[in-house]
Amino acid sequence: MKSVIGIDLGTSAVKILLVNQNGEVCHEVSRSYPLIQERSGYSEQNPQEWVEKTTEGIAELVQHLKGNTSDIEGISFSGQMHGLVLLDGGYRVLRNAILWNDTRTTEQCRQIYEQVGKDRLLAIAKNPALEGFTLPKLLWVKQYEPEVFQKAHLFMLPKDYLRFVMTGKVHSEYSDGAGTLLLNIGEKKWSTEICELVGIHPDLCPPLVESHQLVGTITPDFAKKTGLPESVKVFAGGADNACGAIGAGILSEGKTLASIGTSGVVLSYEERNDQDFKGKVHYFNHGKENAFYTMGVTLAAGYSLSWFKDTFAKNETFEQLLQEMDHVPIGANGLIFTPYLVGERTPHADSAIRGSFIGMDASHKRRDFVRAVVEGITFSLNESIEILRKNGKTIDTIVSIGGGAKNDTWLQLQADIFNAEIVRLSSEQGPGMGAAMLAAFGCGWFSSLKECAENFIHPVKTYKPHNDHARKYKKLFHIYKQVYGQTKGLGQQLQEFRK
Ligand code: XUL
Repeated sequence: MKSVIGIDLGTSAVKILLVNQNGEVCHEVSRSYPLIQERSGYSEQNPQEWVEKTTEGIAELVQHLKGNTSDIEGISFSGQMHGLVLLDGGYRVLRNAILWNDTRTTEQCRQIYEQVGKDRLLAIAKNPALEGFTLPKLLWVKQYEPEVFQKAHLFMLPKDYLRFVMTGKVHSEYSDGAGTLLLNIGEKKWSTEICELVGIHPDLCPPLVESHQLVGTITPDFAKKTGLPESVKVFAGGADNACGAIGAGILSEGKTLASIGTSGVVLSYEERNDQDFKGKVHYFNHGKENAFYTMGVTLAAGYSLSWFKDTFAKNETFEQLLQEMDHVPIGANGLIFTPYLVGERTPHADSAIRGSFIGMDASHKRRDFVRAVVEGITFSLNESIEILRKNGKTIDTIVSIGGGAKNDTWLQLQADIFNAEIVRLSSEQGPGMGAAMLAAFGCGWFSSLKECAENFIHPVKTYKPHNDHARKYKKLFHIYKQVYGQTKGLGQQLQEFRK
């Protein structure tokens, strides 16, 4: 049977899925790579690592292949958003990539507002200037590493760079372009106006295509290194959240997604390109042609739990750690956690805020902290849901994907905190599956992404909110929301002590 490969270039690892024409994941390979965090607020990766780990992973996948390699018809991508990869005239990488969770660019965000104007920026790019987006990173390099910037010929987003190495072809696509602040979201073209106002040459921006568009085939060199046939078709792919939405079937109005990976997002499908959310939520192009989505982002969602595990429970698995919270009541015996480990985006765009545990008591055990971390991550996502609801979205059913969708207690907790029905899918793969679906649609297996979703994605369980749990969580959420205001000033004062 024919198959496609979905490559999800994430923040902690690259995941590679082999998916057949029934939407079954026949094989899965994952390879991790480190974050480079030289200073508080800095977060970088070496693009070469992405290429090496993906090449190794695909080679392993091909080795385990039961059928013929010529049955692999297409490849597509899902990529961590916003990361800046700078290339010189010979397409060589000029410095480490600066990632979406790097918050060094507060000064450049201010400059963007001064030069473009808040209203004009919102009218064109539909989003506010946030540290994580690509344009502030470009301006940071221009200001602080002028010798590097001077050599820059082109910028790329992470998965676009990976695809370039695999094919030798330079492209970006709308869903990832949307996260740069340089794209005119409604008109689907790079904004020469923003480029001119901030002093970025428009030629630095790569040509744009649709996510399902065929962009070429793999190079003979990549074919040799991986064992893939040179004929395999390569499709552009999309931003990880757009692909997460595709992979969860968020392809029509009224559908909402909660995704808990390294970051956490709540995302709602949007048909129109002219809504005004006043920058309170992100407003990006979808991986489905001429569609959009609105989204709130918690920077450290799964990352809060992996930080906790690495620091206090190194020898336990995530499953063991999460089991501990089953023995703790709602509210973690009076302990509240805010997940601002690397600053925050939604609803508080604040790079200086940091996390806290409020209400520590001598009786608390590690399991109380685990429950508080999981509840805090989920409260944070609920703040995004609250904004979407206040803006008129009906959110009564939410598809849950990512690490948070692997655990029954956490899924029930999402239902209780979000006060909505939570749907678990047969595969919680989201972005990697979305990438595979772009390839499947691109190969012509289906007439639309929607038809592909109907064949590939199956709900397996629904979690309904318990009224008494939801009532308790409503009270706790009210307390949780006050922590930001009470700790904001403290976060700022502590800034000088962070390395
Ligand atoms: C979205 C964002 C993150 C990254 C994670 O705006 O910054 O969700 O896409 O890869």
